[in-house]
Amino acid sequence: MNKISWQSPSNIALIKYWGKTGDQIPTNPSISFTLEKSFTETTLIYEKTDKKKGISVDFLFDGESKPDFEKRLVNYLNRISEYIPAMQGLQLKIESRNSFPHSSGIASSASSYSALALCLVSMEEKLMGTPFTTDAFYQKASLLARLGSGSAARSVYSGCNLWGKTPGIVESSQLYSIPINHQVHSDFLNYKDAILLVSKSTKKVSSSAGHQLMDKHPFAEAKFKESFKNTEKMLSILKTGDAMEFANLVEAEALSLHAMMMTSNPAFLLMEPHTLAIIRKIGNFRHETGIPACFTLDAGANVHLLYPSYAIEQIQTFIKKTLMPYCFNYQWIDDQFGNGPVQQTV
Ligand code: PMV
Repeated sequence: MNKISWQSPSNIALIKYWGKTGDQIPTNPSISFTLEKSFTETTLIYEKTDKKKGISVDFLFDGESKPDFEKRLVNYLNRISEYIPAMQGLQLKIESRNSFPHSSGIASSASSYSALALCLVSMEEKLMGTPFTTDAFYQKASLLARLGSGSAARSVYSGCNLWGKTPGIVESSQLYSIPINHQVHSDFLNYKDAILLVSKSTKKVSSSAGHQLMDKHPFAEAKFKESFKNTEKMLSILKTGDAMEFANLVEAEALSLHAMMMTSNPAFLLMEPHTLAIIRKIGNFRHETGIPACFTLDAGANVHLLYPSYAIEQIQTFIKKTLMPYCFNYQWIDDQFGNGPVQQTV
């Protein structure tokens, strides 16, 4: 049967990727945690037709056709066909669904391009009749995912990932991410992420437009320099397991990403009043309880509350009593550090 299916989780960046050159080449390294419950499931059915016909795609999201996204997919598949020459002349049917609520304001490009890239590399293996080594398989999936959406490069592996050439880390690359769980203190390997949904509206600025704003940004050079320093600091914190230092650095990174957007031209204020209320409450909670919970943000209004799993009871009470009133329709997602993508039996 010419059918393949993968489930891939999203990821949350601790050190942010913001700014790129060329084909999603990052201007600084980034570090992330792969999540567990926020995932995309993608099924790919392929059939050989005439090579001269190129690649044709039929795309369904939640069982419905999405012409806009289908166009972007055709574009993407043509761009990456140089990496999978066997794709020429294939007719593809791609079906996708997300585990998280539709238009919840959660970026799904990381999980969707990761799931699709994993399907494509599995398809290539079948078409060629020779399996890749495990390392080569995931490296290629990460590279192809990156070409769809930079942050997707970090979703093909479990746990903690590093993407971008990093001084002192020989295996690191601009082209794909690498798993770094072996360099991470066990205390971080069971972290949880409560995703607090503040706004369900679509993004005020697309990621591509946001990255582009860094090209002529007056503070870009200083920001990139700082991100390199923060990557080095984070790698050391992840090793030692210092949860308070982790909290301080994760929050500083999130705020500096938003500071870049507030000072770009045009400027974007992506936090909502409830975002600010939540991040203040998290700061007070940490101060009062000594529990090293912290927030991080993507390029939007939703808040990720990261915390060690030993504090689950206090945190869940804190969320329900104090934070939920600031969430859109009281919605939040109880996610955690995850085990990475899983191939589904079809
Ligand atoms: O992958 P993109 O192009 O959607 O960029 C994502 C950028 C941030 O989510 C804001 C940060 C990151 O590193 O994930």
